[in-house]
Amino acid sequence: MQLSLLEQTEPRFDAEQRVTELRIQLDYHNKRYYQLDSPEISDADYDRLMAELVVLEERFPQLVTTESPTQRVGAAPVGRFREVRHRLPMLSLENATDAGEIRSKLDVRIKKELGMADAEALPYMCEPKMDGLAVELVYEQGLLTVASTRGDGVTGEDVIHNIRTVRSLPLRLAGDDIPALVELRGEVFLSLEAFQKINRDREENGEPPFANPRNAAAGSLRQLDSRITARRPLSFFCYAPGVVEGGSFTSQREFLDVAQRWGVPINPLARLVIGIEGAVDYYQEMQRIRESLPYEIDGTVVKVDAFALQRELGQKSRSPLWAVACKFPPRQAETLLEDIILSVGRTGVITPVAQLRPVDVSGVTVSRATLHNWDELAAKDIRIGDTVVIERAGDVIPAVVRVVTERRSGAERVPSSPPCCPVCGSAVVRMADEVALRCVGISCPPQMREAIRHFASRGAMDMEGLGEKVVEQLLSLGLVRTVADLFRLTRDDFMQFERMGDKLAGNLLAAIAASKNCSMDRFVYALGIRHVGERTAKALAQAFGSLEHLEVATVEELTSVRDIGGTVAVSIHTFFASPPNRLVIDQLRELGVCPMAVAKTVGGRLAGKNFVFTGTLTGFNRDHARQLVEGQGGNVVGSVSRKTDYVVAGEEAGSKLDKARNLGITILGEEEFRALIENPP
Ligand code: IVH
Repeated sequence: MQLSLLEQTEPRFDAEQRVTELRIQLDYHNKRYYQLDSPEISDADYDRLMAELVVLEERFPQLVTTESPTQRVGAAPVGRFREVRHRLPMLSLENATDAGEIRSKLDVRIKKELGMADAEALPYMCEPKMDGLAVELVYEQGLLTVASTRGDGVTGEDVIHNIRTVRSLPLRLAGDDIPALVELRGEVFLSLEAFQKINRDREENGEPPFANPRNAAAGSLRQLDSRITARRPLSFFCYAPGVVEGGSFTSQREFLDVAQRWGVPINPLARLVIGIEGAVDYYQEMQRIRESLPYEIDGTVVKVDAFALQRELGQKSRSPLWAVACKFPPRQAETLLEDIILSVGRTGVITPVAQLRPVDVSGVTVSRATLHNWDELAAKDIRIGDTVVIERAGDVIPAVVRVVTERRSGAERVPSSPPCCPVCGSAVVRMADEVALRCVGISCPPQMREAIRHFASRGAMDMEGLGEKVVEQLLSLGLVRTVADLFRLTRDDFMQFERMGDKLAGNLLAAIAASKNCSMDRFVYALGIRHVGERTAKALAQAFGSLEHLEVATVEELTSVRDIGGTVAVSIHTFFASPPNRLVIDQLRELGVCPMAVAKTVGGRLAGKNFVFTGTLTGFNRDHARQLVEGQGGNVVGSVSRKTDYVVAGEEAGSKLDKARNLGITILGEEEFRALIENPP
């Protein structure tokens, strides 16, 4: 391999030292954030440190180790999970459902078994019963080497790639009292906040939401592609040791304390009590505070604290005799489904929502429940007038679990999916790969904030300065109802804003006016048609040449365009066929918005050539440079690879330039680039 000048003159020692420094810093900040809950640096600064480490490890692959913080960002998909046999079986617990059962299934039984007096008070460890998934982590010489799911208790699946993404877990145990081998068992779970965000994103993407945080955690842990897991912030609490070689513990309390010293998260609510009544009190207390916890628990677990006693008691079939799971009653209730209303989200997803006769579900009055989507409604055969069972399962809005069919009178009505948007009357589409129904309206009020923000954004109409805050004020002052209204704004309109000066207002007006002469592809992208990103917009502009042609294109004509499949074609066609959208496009034209038709550049003199820009260009902006390349049939791509033909380096070019040098790719300065454009080969 050809070495760059930089690498030849820079001693390798420096890179190694910097890598070590970065890892120490990242581990430190990770700990402050996840274990101590008191970060010292911003997320952006953390990301910068991580990015620097990623770059260095890419350049010096020999420096990569399994414990590097970069290993947490996820790896490419594995074909399937490897099987892992647990050294000791992973047991389950016997359930108790009330105070009486906690006493009888644990304390009474134990004392009989051990021949102890009834009055004797045994020390018990009480812990919340996390509603997640059991996993076993193996640390050898302090280093995390294996992580497996419980599976059938004997054999689980190797999920180490996904477990490495759990930022609160140490990849290496801290301290100097680390056993040669220690197995740590615990629960992987999702915080309620993370769960709700995942579901919001899923609904926006037309994917079916997870029913509860447990399912979401399970789905994340069993991802073959750990880059997806890395985006789902899983958490972990350790609750039991497995095999320990080269060390021992005398009690559960001691074990949890030591695990915590090693840097392993344990539940801070775990508490040692003396006597079974303490365990009953703990169960009742946890039930009271359950709603205020940031994660789901489905009960408590009571364990005999002393490991010697645990060993003496042993196990029967699949559960130990020294512990019991004290389950909370499910948070369910029955009520009447009075009506189904439709809610339109920020991105146009239309969700059916159950309007319920108000009912108390463990202390919270519930009058609405999400029905998620029309598939789910049909699958559960939910009808208006039904008696339904609802459940609160970690979501802000409870869900309908099932219909009590025995209570049907025959007067119930089967709901039908809406033919058009209940808010703006535009057409609705359903993508082949989605469960969601979406409104295609460009002026649908719930979608306006997002629509305008996108319309004005950089890759779209590029109205500089028209960011989120400006959009917010335009909407709250009622100054824009459609994107066309943007072109009707006056200086006086802007002067009503908070903190608005004459100069800023002038700049905004100029940016809006300048966008009138945009290219057709930008305009098409700006319309925010579902599944039409910048690439597709470009392909459409090239294929149809003008907006007038595109507007009347049939689904067949659309599908004949490169990269456009049936669903995307239907989405585009429905968009332009919807009268409210046509109206806005006509208004835009009348207001002088004139998307420029593009000349087809297939087979230009730079056809098939790939360009990468890096550093700051002073002679022209990036967009302009891109247009120059694309105007002659070339492509502009984001990263350097063997397929790159030219790297155009501006001022302060960084790692892309180094990589280009390593790969022996032609590097052009700005002047050379200009010459190439003017005189292509
Ligand atoms: S102790 C041999 N402690 O509950 C007993 N389990 O039915 C090992 N769980 O599969 C389990 N929180 O996934 C224990 N603090 C806790 C727990 C807990 C949740 C789960 C665990 C296990 C199931 C038992």
